[in-house]
Amino acid sequence: MSTRPVVFVTRCVPPNGMDMLKSECEVRTWPNDAVIPRDQLLQGVKGADGLLCHPSEKIDQEVLDAAGPQLKVIGTMSVGLEHLDLALCKSRNIHVGYTPDVLTDATAEMTVGLLLATSRRIKEGFAATVNGGWGTWNCGLYLAGKELSESTVGIVGLGRIGLAVAKRLQPFGVQKFLYSGNSEKSWASDIGAEFVPFDKLLQNSDFVVACCSMNPQNKGLFNKDAFSKMKNSAIFVNTSRGVLVNQEDLLQALSTNQILAAGLDVTTPEPLPRDNPLFTLNNCVITPHLGSATTKARAAMADLVCRNILAGLKGQPLPKPVPL
Ligand code: DGY
Repeated sequence: MSTRPVVFVTRCVPPNGMDMLKSECEVRTWPNDAVIPRDQLLQGVKGADGLLCHPSEKIDQEVLDAAGPQLKVIGTMSVGLEHLDLALCKSRNIHVGYTPDVLTDATAEMTVGLLLATSRRIKEGFAATVNGGWGTWNCGLYLAGKELSESTVGIVGLGRIGLAVAKRLQPFGVQKFLYSGNSEKSWASDIGAEFVPFDKLLQNSDFVVACCSMNPQNKGLFNKDAFSKMKNSAIFVNTSRGVLVNQEDLLQALSTNQILAAGLDVTTPEPLPRDNPLFTLNNCVITPHLGSATTKARAAMADLVCRNILAGLKGQPLPKPVPL
């Protein structure tokens, strides 16, 4: 009988990670690329010493009970932690590792991508090229967009990713950065950003960018009230979590020109059903949660999540432990 520790992987990670785990452990996987059904998760995790999971799986008491008391470590391939019952992990002495930092650049680039896609109306321009709407070059206001230069950008949550977004936007000639959140950040001075109340940020920003992590307080933060405080010319971008946004209210704000446009890399639910009315709007660009989707970031995430798991199995300090 094998004495190698058993690791259950809820969805295959890039090969560098799988190979690392397989060299030291007995690895069981849900072989499919789709989200693992709950019953398969509860079945697969039974008897595992380590669990590699993703934000799409809720890791709660039912899963921990199904795993059994030998479960030593959970590695989530994400920076987001909202799917994990951390208090319960702590009470059961289960180590938890995550993958911050290595996805910061990729997510910041995606955020800038959505800012440009919305402000320069790339969705409409692309549609015009494929649908035959592209006429002769137009020197009027045909698909005229909005510039980042001389703008005010409001960042909700100036953490690692928020700061990385701001640093990338500086060379575009942004005039002022505002930020809001739980507390002032010492690194805000790197970009000359001013800490302001949320409402002031909404009222004064040309671009409002959600970069905060999710917590019970910020669910539905971007609602009717918030959109009504934003400029009619404002663009809203969310690369954080869909639950920050009341999507009904966003639909209303976009279709009544209360705000100019929105770029969403995250929605509720994911995938967003194809008949969701947000897809019909020219001023809403939606991408399928691609923030960390670069080959470099995903390989680094796979490396880190597996190193976290191996360290936890050996009783060593995790390279990136979640503070419990
Ligand atoms: C994260 O790491 O939390 C990203 O959203 C990818 O899921």
